[in-house]
Amino acid sequence: MEKVITGMIRRAARLMLEFADPAVYSKGRHADFVTEADVAVQDYLIGELSRAFPQARFLAEEGEGQQLTDTFTFIIDPIDGTTNYFRRRRCSMISIGAVEGKEPVFGMIYDPYRDELYHAERGKGAWCNAERLHVADMPLEKALIGLGSGPYYEDLFDLTSRSFAALLPKAADIRRTGSACMDLCDVAAGRSDGHFEWQLQPWDYCAATLLVEEAGGRCGNILGGLVTYDRGIPHLAASARIYDELQAILQQVWRAGQP
Ligand code: IPD
Ligand code: CA
Repeated sequence: MEKVITGMIRRAARLMLEFADPAVYSKGRHADFVTEADVAVQDYLIGELSRAFPQARFLAEEGEGQQLTDTFTFIIDPIDGTTNYFRRRRCSMISIGAVEGKEPVFGMIYDPYRDELYHAERGKGAWCNAERLHVADMPLEKALIGLGSGPYYEDLFDLTSRSFAALLPKAADIRRTGSACMDLCDVAAGRSDGHFEWQLQPWDYCAATLLVEEAGGRCGNILGGLVTYDRGIPHLAASARIYDELQAILQQVWRAGQP
């Protein structure tokens, strides 16, 4: 599977980079966009994957009305970091995860700007190109924490701002790339120590959650429980060293906003 999907994701990346000035459409919510390149990459990947894996089902960002079952399913984000992409910030990734029995078994993420291919299989470790990945082991006061701002959900702006304010004095610093995938790859590679967003979707985190876990990190729902792949969640990923501490701070911030 790894070899076949490597070829597909690299060809999909060439297609993504071919659009010099892609058409951009609003999806209706605040700052939520799709470009013609997102649709072209998704169509290409679903076409190729369904030829190679005829039994597979699909859940993809630019699709509609798809429901996850226990059957082997690819969960695809054709471009994670769509706004970065059409603003030419060179900070976007293609993500292909696969779940079976609603649990991730395979993940591949490609950064076409840095030619970095991330890959994980359950029980076989996490990799970036030929390098094995391991999460960092920093205490919170030395940690870099990635923050997803949840730009599409206006009702979460206050919670996100209060989370930033609570963490900034406790961690070394906060980062915001505009690609959840990229932030999660950084956690897996030990280049940062945690990442959270109060609402993320399975295509944003499916492949990257497996990558973080296979690199020795932890992922879960900020408010408690495991990551689910049939609906979006408040998603937290971190090194094993700071996961509980980070979760406790974020839960406290959430509780402070409850009536
Ligand atoms: C978005 C990015 C962003 C995050 C959003 C995601 P998209 O993905 O990962 O960092 O804040 O929640 O939806 O829409 O560019 O594929
Ligand atoms: Ca996307």
